[in-house]
Order: sequence, then C-alpha cells, then structure tokens
Amino acid sequence: MDLLGKHYKAFTERQEAIKKQYSPEQAAKQHSKGKLTAWERIDLLFDSGTFEEIDAFVTPAGQPVEFGKVEKSFGDGVIVGHGKVNGRLVFAYAQDFTIMGGSLGIVHAKKIAKIQEMALKMGSPIIGLIDSGGARIQEGVASLSGYATIFQNIIHSSGIIPQISVIMGPAAGGAVYSPALTDFVFMTNHTSYMFVTGPNVVKEVLNEEVTFDQLGGAEVHARSSGVAHMIYDDEENTILALKKFLSYLPSNNVENPPVVADDGTIPDINPKLRDIIPDDPYKAYDVKDVITQIVDRNSFLEISELFAPSLVTGFARLKGKTIGVVANQPKVLAGVLDINSSTKGARFIRFCDAFNIPLLTLEDVPGFLPGVDQEHSGIIRHGAKMLFAYSEATVPKITVILRKAYGGAFIVMNSKNLGGDFSFAWPTAEIAVMGPDGAVAILYRRELANSKNPDELKKELVKKYRDKVANPFIADESGYIDEVIDPAVTRKKIASALSALNNKWVKVPSRKHGNMPL
Ligand code: HXC
Repeated sequence: MDLLGKHYKAFTERQEAIKKQYSPEQAAKQHSKGKLTAWERIDLLFDSGTFEEIDAFVTPAGQPVEFGKVEKSFGDGVIVGHGKVNGRLVFAYAQDFTIMGGSLGIVHAKKIAKIQEMALKMGSPIIGLIDSGGARIQEGVASLSGYATIFQNIIHSSGIIPQISVIMGPAAGGAVYSPALTDFVFMTNHTSYMFVTGPNVVKEVLNEEVTFDQLGGAEVHARSSGVAHMIYDDEENTILALKKFLSYLPSNNVENPPVVADDGTIPDINPKLRDIIPDDPYKAYDVKDVITQIVDRNSFLEISELFAPSLVTGFARLKGKTIGVVANQPKVLAGVLDINSSTKGARFIRFCDAFNIPLLTLEDVPGFLPGVDQEHSGIIRHGAKMLFAYSEATVPKITVILRKAYGGAFIVMNSKNLGGDFSFAWPTAEIAVMGPDGAVAILYRRELANSKNPDELKKELVKKYRDKVANPFIADESGYIDEVIDPAVTRKKIASALSALNNKWVKVPSRKHGNMPL
C-alpha cells in the first residue's frame, strides 16, 4: 500500500509538472504570433473528450556533442495520440513550437513514427499539425535519421490511409518533404510557411531580398507552386475546414467513403442545366455553375482552387455518396490543359482511385496549351500524367462532354477507349480532332490563300465544319460515346450510372508498379 502510495505521489508530481510545462506564458508567446498552442489545435480537431495522448512523459534524448542545449521537457515538443473526428478514429501529432522551436529530435521523431505505424495498422487517417524549426540541430544526424523514418512511414502508408499535413508555423529545409509526401497540405495565411532554403540563404546565394511570406507563405504555395491544396485565414478555420474535408474520405483503402443523407433539393431532372452554356460557342461560362446543379446541394468542396484554375477539382456528394469531380473551366484560359492543370488533375485522380472515390469528369476543353514555354517546360511529359492517371484508375469513371472535346484532350479526359465507363454528351458537345478554326486553316490553306475574300470563305467553312463535324452525333452514331442526353437529366443519368457501377470489378495484371511519367 505504501509502495503504491509512493508511486502515486510520483505520478501526480509528473502530472503537475506537465501542466506547468504548458504555461500561460508559453501560450501567450504563440498567441502573440497569431498562432494557437499545440493543445488548442488538438482540442479543435477532435470531438470533445475523445483525444487520448500517447507518450506524454517521454523526455528528449541527450545530445552527441556539446553544442547548444537540449531543454529537458516532457513529451519532447510534440503531442501525439488518437481520438474521434466526426465520430471516426483519427491519429494526429501536433508539434509544440514553444519547446525548442518544435524541432525534431530523435525521441520526437520516434513518437511520430509510433503513431504512424498505429494509424496504418488500425486503418485510420493521420494528421500532422506542423509547427517546427525542422531537424534539431543539437541532436545532429540522429534527428536526420528521425526524419528519414517518418518519410519512410509516409511512403509505406501512401494509398492505404489518408495522410494530411496542416502547416501552422515554419516547415523549413528537408522538413518540407514530410508534408510534400502526404496526400494533402493545408496552410494558414501569414502564420505558416514552407521552403527548402529560407530568405537568408536566398539573400546569400542570389542576393535577392524576399520575406518569409513572399518566399513560402500559404498564398504562394496555393497559387504558384501548388504545394498547398487548401488555405485559410486563421488556424481555427483551417482546422474546421479539415474536419469537413475528412468527412468525404474513407478511413482507408478497403473502406468506402461515408454516406450522408441527401436533402433532395437538387432535382434529378434539373432544367437549370439547359441554360448554363451560352449560345455563342466562343463565350465562356463558369463550370462550377454546372457542378452545383448536378451534385447534392452545398456538397462541392473544391481542392487546389487557386492553382491551375483552368481545371477544377474537388469532392462532392451525389445522393449522399462521395465523388471526385474533375472539370475543365472555360472561364480560365478557355479550360485549356497546361502543365500545372495536368499535374493537378493527375494527382487528384490518383487519390480518388486509391480511396474508392468514383470520378465524374465534366469536359469542355479546346486542347493542350500551345507555346514555346509549355513545350520547353515539358507539356508532353506532364500531359502524359493525366492520361496515365485516368487510364490506370479502376474506380467508376463517368464523363459528361458539355461542349468542346477536341483532339488529344478528348482522349485524355476519360474517353471510353481510355477505360471510361460511361460517356455522355450534351447536344452542345463538339467532338472532333480539332476546333473549326484550326481545321479550316489546315484543310483549306490553299483555297484561303487564293481567295479574294478569305475572311468570308473562312466564316463559311467554319460554319460548315460546326454543322457537319463539330457536334456529338458522329461520336454517338459510332459508339465512341454512350449517349447524347438532355442536360436536364444529367444528375439522373450519373446517379444511375454510379448505381450500375457499384460492383465494378477490374482485374489488373500483376506487376510491381507502372512507370508513370514524372
Ligand atoms: C533546434 C531550434 C531549431 C532547430 C529553432 N530552434 N529551430 N532548435 N533546432 N532546427 C529554437 C531556437 O533556437 C529558439 O530557441 C526557438 O526554437 C525559437 O526559435 P526562434 O528562431 O527564436 O523563432 P523564430 O524567430 O520564430 O524563427 C523560427 C525559424 C528559425 C524561422 C524556424 O528558428 C529558424 O530558421 N530555424 C532553423 C530552420 C532550419 O533551417 N531548420 C533546419 C532545417 S533542415 P530559444 O531557446 O531561443 O527559445 C532540416 C533537415 C531535415 O530540417 C532533413 C530531412 C531530409
């Protein structure tokens, strides 16, 4: 009894010590930078009272050489554990910047690795709430080896459990590769940043002045590099958005995504869809207006909204079930496929395929973006990623051709011969090897050169091409699509196609892995 009492005292003392560690002063330090504390983030993420911490009392390893000082602390600067998010099991780690800058020593790394392995074994998503100065300098190569283990675990779990990184402070140096390897990266504006080499090195090497935000802030990664998929103005909204985002995903690759009730307010027969495409084929429209008239109300969640906006990607629900939407956006560069939109689309398609999320493709694309810059930067190599991703995907794949489907882009956007399951076209569809202007310029080059009135002749020929060639009926009659449909019945057609595909089964020949063009 005495012994138990003695141990109990030691136990309560440790608990008191850990409480003191998370002091109001430390919280104030974080708050003064517009950031929440690691615990506040955990509390926001998990359903109330469900988070169970693991390894709270581990202490940092010693340091191999006398340089700097490793602070004694409980937990070694990271909180790890599991709990429920929207009622489902989720693992998470939250780095604590107030302890040695959230830097990653070997014990810190082992804690993360431990829950990575648990999440994989238990088939549950893992979230990293990252706020760290990177590898702990004092611990030298041990901390590098810790990162390597974390990377290895992410790669082993890729395609098996969803892995999401939320950047809520610094992510610098090689440490950026941990988020980069995960499926999705969330960032908070102005308080988070990611870069391989910071502003000081940029100044030293290139003599360029740049701020943290300009070099690797959320906006930069969401708009220009494509590293960040989702960005929000503050941490609370970032975490709330993450919870909503998780509700679309299955816990692992052998489960189906959760099904929610559809409020039934988007009708199966929806005449509004007849009025979105303008009469003038050269006029743009917003494909998101089409998406929102097809999917369940308020269910569309756009991913990578700011990056490569000529292609729209996002999750939605149809009759309560998650789908992945890939749609050309005529409002931006006429919906053209370029290097960035191809890589954006390919990555999204591969995620959906890994996690049993059927794909809906809405097509209105004039082709690949021409130009020296695109050719020299590898549009051939990057465009091939879209082809590869669509063709490789075995989830249900449905296409609706809304308007333009020209050339290679017709093939790429989930055509039947690339393994598309159902292909519908609206009467406004233009399916041909190329657009009218290009076709006339090539086939009637001599006639146009010799004509007294080339503009008039061109106009006539373009009209003829539109009437005879650039329509959905040739493809329909020859079976290259399945059906020309009234736009109003689009939701109904997709729903019944998805229902027919419920038990879709594809046998893929065994191989180590395909060789996707990278
Ligand atoms: C040990 C670190 C640290 C690190 C920060 N700290 N980074 N301790 N190892 N990597 C400590 C600081 O000494 C300080 O301790 C406290 O954390 C807060 O840091 P500050 O510099 O005061 O904060 P701030 O001004 O906000 O600047 C944050 C920062 C800066 C921009 C992240 O600390 C910084 O540049 N850190 C180094 C970033 C970096 O280059 N990391 C290595 C990346 S390479 P005190 O005691 O004063 O409070 C890498 C390799 C991974 O990670 C390999 C994978 C392949």
